[in-house]
Amino acid sequence: MPRPKVYSTHPLFEEARKILDASCDIHYWGATERPPREEVLRRVKDREGLICLLTERINDELLRTAPKLRVVANVAVGFDNIDVDACTKRGVIATNTPGVLDETTADFAWTLLLAVARRLVEGEALARSGNWKGWNLDQLCGADVWGKTLGIVGFGRIGRAVARRSLGFQMKVIYADAVRAPEDIERSVSAEFRDMNSLLSDSDFISLHVPLLPETRGLFDAAKFFRMKSTAFLINTSRGPVVDEAALVAALENKKIAGAALDVYENEPFIHPGLKRPNVVLAPHLASASLETRSKMAVMAANNVVALFNGQRPANMLNPDIFKKR
Ligand code: GLV
Repeated sequence: MPRPKVYSTHPLFEEARKILDASCDIHYWGATERPPREEVLRRVKDREGLICLLTERINDELLRTAPKLRVVANVAVGFDNIDVDACTKRGVIATNTPGVLDETTADFAWTLLLAVARRLVEGEALARSGNWKGWNLDQLCGADVWGKTLGIVGFGRIGRAVARRSLGFQMKVIYADAVRAPEDIERSVSAEFRDMNSLLSDSDFISLHVPLLPETRGLFDAAKFFRMKSTAFLINTSRGPVVDEAALVAALENKKIAGAALDVYENEPFIHPGLKRPNVVLAPHLASASLETRSKMAVMAANNVVALFNGQRPANMLNPDIFKKR
């Protein structure tokens, strides 16, 4: 039996490569920068499997050039880069990596929250500058985190992991979601279900954990910022386009909110220049970036591909109906 031909747009990590190398004829993109679109289109032409990152657009154009493709494995939980309907129409299974990055992402949402509240980045710059003149009573005073109200928008696996971490900070947790969580989950983190408007007006910190969908695109717009406390902070580790960046910049300029800490942007890797201000902490899409977690994500994607070629159900299918038809 010929080995299935697979293209990976990233060299991945050793554990994942072991899985793929054992059963596939695989070509890995090896450079440190992301591959140009033409390179991806050229490479997928004769491939039955594709492993990609969230920076690759998997759309009809790509699927058309890859008539033999049977599986696209995204090394990410978010899959707004994949046109799942187009995959389904062409009988291509799409997969993602849910579950393994929840705790790591929640850790990072907290990293951002604490950093912006306590002005860590400004303090770090001062400490390194050689201009620090020593302790002073009113130096870089930030906002308390403990005892405050944390508003979580999107109370799925990651939102709940963020909520669990708030217990040590004696915070009140409120959340908004399209569906209310089961009572035992609410009770375990003392979280209170709220409508969006009451979450906006009561939260000291708002952390976003919704997927990017047509209904969440631009969810945080001028009207939302208007309802927030002027002392509140926005934390975004979900997807950039969930926030209307121009509206966020205006809210910051007009002091409608106290600050923001962002890991994701509307047009990555472009960052709106209006966000480059002292009360905004900026990270380059790092929330799941621990070596352990990124390696687990790559292994998960590798297992999804190999499972399909072994005639099994990949564990993380986004369009499982295709498999049923086979
Ligand atoms: C990262 O942003 C992911 O979706 O896994």
